[in-house]
Amino acid sequence: MTRKAIYAGSFDPVTYGHLDVISRALRFFDELTVAVAASQDKNPLFSLPERVDMLSRVTGGMEGVRVEGFEGLLTGFAAKREVKLIIRGLRALTDFEYEFQMALTNRKLDDSVETVFMMPSEAFSYVSSSMIKEIVKLGGSVRAFVPLEIEEELKRKLRK
Ligand code: COA
Repeated sequence: MTRKAIYAGSFDPVTYGHLDVISRALRFFDELTVAVAASQDKNPLFSLPERVDMLSRVTGGMEGVRVEGFEGLLTGFAAKREVKLIIRGLRALTDFEYEFQMALTNRKLDDSVETVFMMPSEAFSYVSSSMIKEIVKLGGSVRAFVPLEIEEELKRKLRK
């Protein structure tokens, strides 16, 4: 039986923290779909196709990973792909309340779906995409937090 899971998020942009969760998840699943949410209400810096493209490039060498964008409910996307397991990263206690609410809401929407939390390495436990965007906007380096090509994309968008 193929063990399948979905790792969902906005990925605006993908960071080493996300890549850490992806590598950890791959130890337990044969097929990991990285589901990039449109997240229009978050007013993303990168368009959905741009975020999918960046994630595809940085996960290119990872066997078992496929990247897909989606609009609408995550539980709807999971049902379409016939996946019953959603992975989310849990960085700190502050993530817990939001994640708890989301996991239980998703379960209410589709009782067959479970959420599993994975903790990224402590080296990335404080990283967030917003902070990375702010650093780039203000002229700092984010090499410690994102792959070089993602830093280049950020500079192109934020330092015109
Ligand atoms: N390393 C680094 N940063 C991480 C991280 C990790 N491992 N895990 C999360 N983050 C950061 C992200 O960078 C992001 O930072 P930002 O807020 O500064 O941009 C933040 O944590 C949360 O981002 P993310 O994990 O992408 O979650 P999200 O809240 O943007 O999106 C979805 C969550 C997409 C899964 C959720 O909104 C969803 O399911 N949307 C579809 C619609 C739906 O079904 N709604 C009902 C849900 S109950």
